[in-house]
Amino acid sequence: METAYERLLLSAQKEASDKGETIKDTPYRLGFHISAPANWINDPNGLIQFKGEYHVFYQFHPFSEKWGPMYWGHVKSKDLVHWEQLPIALAPFEDYDRDGCFSGSAVEHDGKMGLIYTGNVWLDDQQQELKQVQCLAWSTDGVNFTKDCSNPVLSRIPEEGSSHFRDPKVWKHESSWYMVLGTKKNELGKVLLYQSDDLQNWKYEGVLAENKEENLGFMWECPDFFELGGRHVLLISPEGMEQEGTEYVNLKQTGYFTGEFSYETMQYKHGQFFELDKGHDFYAAQTFLDDTGRRILIAWMDMWEQEMPSQEDGWAGALTIPRVLSLDKEGRLLMHPVAELDSLRKEKTVSVKEYAIENELVIGSADMAEIAAEFRVDDPGVRAFGVKVRCGDGEETVLTIVPDECKLVLDRENSGKGPGGGLREAKLSQVKSVSLRIFLDRSSIEVFADGGACVLTSRIFPSSDSLGIKLFAEGGTVNVQSAEVWTLGDAYIKR
Ligand code: FRU
Repeated sequence: METAYERLLLSAQKEASDKGETIKDTPYRLGFHISAPANWINDPNGLIQFKGEYHVFYQFHPFSEKWGPMYWGHVKSKDLVHWEQLPIALAPFEDYDRDGCFSGSAVEHDGKMGLIYTGNVWLDDQQQELKQVQCLAWSTDGVNFTKDCSNPVLSRIPEEGSSHFRDPKVWKHESSWYMVLGTKKNELGKVLLYQSDDLQNWKYEGVLAENKEENLGFMWECPDFFELGGRHVLLISPEGMEQEGTEYVNLKQTGYFTGEFSYETMQYKHGQFFELDKGHDFYAAQTFLDDTGRRILIAWMDMWEQEMPSQEDGWAGALTIPRVLSLDKEGRLLMHPVAELDSLRKEKTVSVKEYAIENELVIGSADMAEIAAEFRVDDPGVRAFGVKVRCGDGEETVLTIVPDECKLVLDRENSGKGPGGGLREAKLSQVKSVSLRIFLDRSSIEVFADGGACVLTSRIFPSSDSLGIKLFAEGGTVNVQSAEVWTLGDAYIKR
């Protein structure tokens, strides 16, 4: 006999899968990024390598292309590249999570996979007042999950927090479990720290970090805390930071602090906040440690309250490609696409070596491609140079290096349909010799420069026949030391 909960899971799954069949060939569908079979997704959740396979969950509304009561969608992969859709893992159903299974993380314990998530309940019709509690669910096969009977495992809000009390990230250190949670108090964002011996009883350890009335936002969502290169990184997604010049331009940011943490005193001393990715669409990032010791990050590749043209086709939202994190000498985070992505390469369509450009050079045509270009600039007259992608009739997405200002600018004003939103820019450490690596999918661009210190991620919605890829220079001659283009293949295994 099926339970009412199982019936809900199945009907939600069927709704998304059936709709998925009808929308799968719509033009913006992504080829190698995680998205739902159909309808809405936001944050990545529960990143974990379990019994050798990579699992990624995501905030999912299976009944609509707009945000609503949150479920946890689920994909897995053997190589971080080819993803298989699995049945929905969690659905809102119990009194404590009836309006949403919000973001959270995954652990392995006693051979089982545990999910720790926030149960959300609205207390009024306007969805202003809410109750948020932390919950657990377990799986032995990594596919079917049962909610823990002791749920909610944490509902008491400490003095320093408020009813916005969510997004648990749990990890193990020696024989203890630790958890960070996002909250706010008096319109100042904070991260709270907890400790547990059994994942069910949680001891409050205090505030790990907080906005001390600076420009750091009124609420800190999706915290993640991990050791990297001998330092401790606190990743947060603050709401409400004010734009400062070319910084914090998006509605919400994801960024980090690095510092020193002591498990004896539970104190964290950190430096300043840095935005992690300077594109239009990057939020709610989460990381995990894989069996090879890599700290891998995946983020939501969209932004709240932004126009999403794919909603007309019945879906919205995707996750970034997985990126390996490292720290540079100054304690800044670097991001590199995981090496496994090389397996997406189908055909090398272009290979240019030692070529001088003065205006434009067409180097390819593709909607899904990896582009690697290395430029050298000796001519002081050069005002701008870079790469244009998805070029067509009146459409182009432009990546410009401006030597005088030592910066990289991503312009999606003429990218096609939808959100526009002007320029996003990032500082480069130097502009004499610039290497760009670009991952282009049917409705996204991810740009890696400056050894991973400068990364920009944005959604774009060009027409399907805007396919041109060009290199360009303005004001002088730029030497293209090498430029390579690979077409990339689709990476979804349908279920
Ligand atoms: C971040 C977020 C989280 C929350 C989830 C709800 O994008 O607002 O704080 O758990 O999305 O879908």
